[in-house]
Amino acid sequence: MNKIILANLKSNKSFESSKEWIENLLQNVDDSTLSKLDVSVVPSFTTLEMMSSKILQAQKNISVSVQDISSFPAGSYTGAISGQNLMGLNVKYAIVGHSERRKYFKETSNDVASKVAQCLENDIKPVVCIDTEYLEEQLNLIEKQDMEKCIVAYEPLSAIGSGKNADVGNVKSVVERVKIIAGDVPVIYGGSVNEFNISEYLMVCDGALIGRAALDQEQFRRVIESCI
Ligand code: PGA
Repeated sequence: MNKIILANLKSNKSFESSKEWIENLLQNVDDSTLSKLDVSVVPSFTTLEMMSSKILQAQKNISVSVQDISSFPAGSYTGAISGQNLMGLNVKYAIVGHSERRKYFKETSNDVASKVAQCLENDIKPVVCIDTEYLEEQLNLIEKQDMEKCIVAYEPLSAIGSGKNADVGNVKSVVERVKIIAGDVPVIYGGSVNEFNISEYLMVCDGALIGRAALDQEQFRRVIESCI
């Protein structure tokens, strides 16, 4: 399995600067490097269609993913983006339960379990974020047959956006803990990953979720190239 590299752009960038970011990335990133990885860009919903079609046009081995999905199906849920809304946009993964969603939008482990179900009903692979305090609670709320179709992202709160990336040994032990509960699912790590530390993480887990180091396309290109 190729290593999964997700570029989470969060709520950054205007439409124009998003366009520049993806155009430059597609122009500069090396095809043979991309062929050995599973790179997905995770932009805002407002730039998703634009990025998806630019990637398609460029015929690069990159996909688009989303930062969140509604816990409800299609229907009268004003402001929510449902799985049905995402159909036809070639969305590969959905990040669910990111700690920023828990903190600022008061998402619970039950909400996240519903989001997993919505993803799977719409052929989107969920990337379930966990930290050690609620690892068991979160994973146990997901149906066993659904869990097998998920990716788990270990995202220690202290490491996100702080420059204090987690110890590789710690990541290795959390990966083992996840696999005891969730079975042999892919586990990725996120939290201050950059071009200098990514290769160490890829030795103990299946990929990385990158925030700050993805905002500049040139820096993100170097992160990708450091994976090989
Ligand atoms: P960071 O963000 O790379 O800026 O720490 C990671 C994340 O939020 O997933």
